[in-house]
Amino acid sequence: MCVNQVKPIMIISASTDYREAARRRLPPFLFHYIDGGAYAEHTLQRNVGDLASIALRQRVLLDMSELSLQTELFGETLSMPVVLGPIGLTGMYARRGEVQAARAADRHGIPFTMSTVSVCPIEEVATHIGRPMWFQLYVLKDRGFMKSVLERAQAAGVSTLVFTVDMPVPGARYRDAHSGMSGPHAALRRYLQALTHPRWSWDVGLMGRPHDLGNVSRYLGVPTGLEDYIDWLGSNFDPSISWKDLEWIRAFWKGTMIIKGILDVEDAREAVLFGADGIIVSNHGGRQLDGALSTVRALPPIADVVKSELRILVDSGVRNGLDVVRMLALGADTVLLGRSYAYALAVAGEAGVLNLLRLMQNEIRVAMTLTGARTISDITRDSLASV
Ligand code: GLV
Repeated sequence: MCVNQVKPIMIISASTDYREAARRRLPPFLFHYIDGGAYAEHTLQRNVGDLASIALRQRVLLDMSELSLQTELFGETLSMPVVLGPIGLTGMYARRGEVQAARAADRHGIPFTMSTVSVCPIEEVATHIGRPMWFQLYVLKDRGFMKSVLERAQAAGVSTLVFTVDMPVPGARYRDAHSGMSGPHAALRRYLQALTHPRWSWDVGLMGRPHDLGNVSRYLGVPTGLEDYIDWLGSNFDPSISWKDLEWIRAFWKGTMIIKGILDVEDAREAVLFGADGIIVSNHGGRQLDGALSTVRALPPIADVVKSELRILVDSGVRNGLDVVRMLALGADTVLLGRSYAYALAVAGEAGVLNLLRLMQNEIRVAMTLTGARTISDITRDSLASV
């Protein structure tokens, strides 16, 4: 099948193929950083496996000639119920990767979410896109940094703050120590890996510089590289955080605010009381509490309780358009992509992400046609087979 003009890939399943191509293209420390999860990666596997096991209810002969994938979210119109989620170090996967990913999202008519720990600074990305971007922030000890970066986000026209709350401590990612992302002689190992991946080294390693953390280095006033990233993040997580610490952010941030990292009904209720505009049902892509529930299993009880109070987004495990439809059927309003778009970005930059989005759009369209849903709001639990 030939889709868009992204050449070297034979599309069988977009994200699987992109994943394999990304494995070849990237130095292992980067591939495993994005591909891996915490500890034994049980939750990472559950996210994907539980989702794939949900059966859709096939319907036929319903005249499905008129179909719309458009949806409204926080006053924005999205071409489909998908958002590019925040990924740290996106600019290491492709040359100025945040800009390329944001442009692909913009061209497709969906929001791009920039991670705090991006390579490109907010301002660089904002000048390349026509629609307001979303910005993700962690709870960090350095409140001065949080305030300054929020001011910059506001000045750059960011519409939506995605506030990550499931990282009061970092989950141990053993793959990172094996791959050279961290651990003994990490810098030397990364250097040697770069030598054996000359395409990446030229395109991203050399031409994609600077590789500092654009949002952090401006605040610290010094260039920050990968080592500083690991040190700064490691020393800045705040295990003392509680809901009341978020109140100043709610007061300070004038735009939409979404809480990312909700997996439990009680926490979803707290988010409503707090006044969040939305939540993201997330286990951080299986990168934090290994052993936690998959998001597709956590979602239905949460949706049952808070759906009428705020918007529900979900991530973790979504690899294709059918997964998007499954999540919507179980109560999500919109779905965030993480790894699946990072692989496409690593392989073919903006064109790769755009291609992936077009493939997903088509997968959603086919699933809607064959489940009898003409609009996004027609996708309900009735779209699932009771097996
Ligand atoms: C950062 O949030 C990560 O999961 O690496």
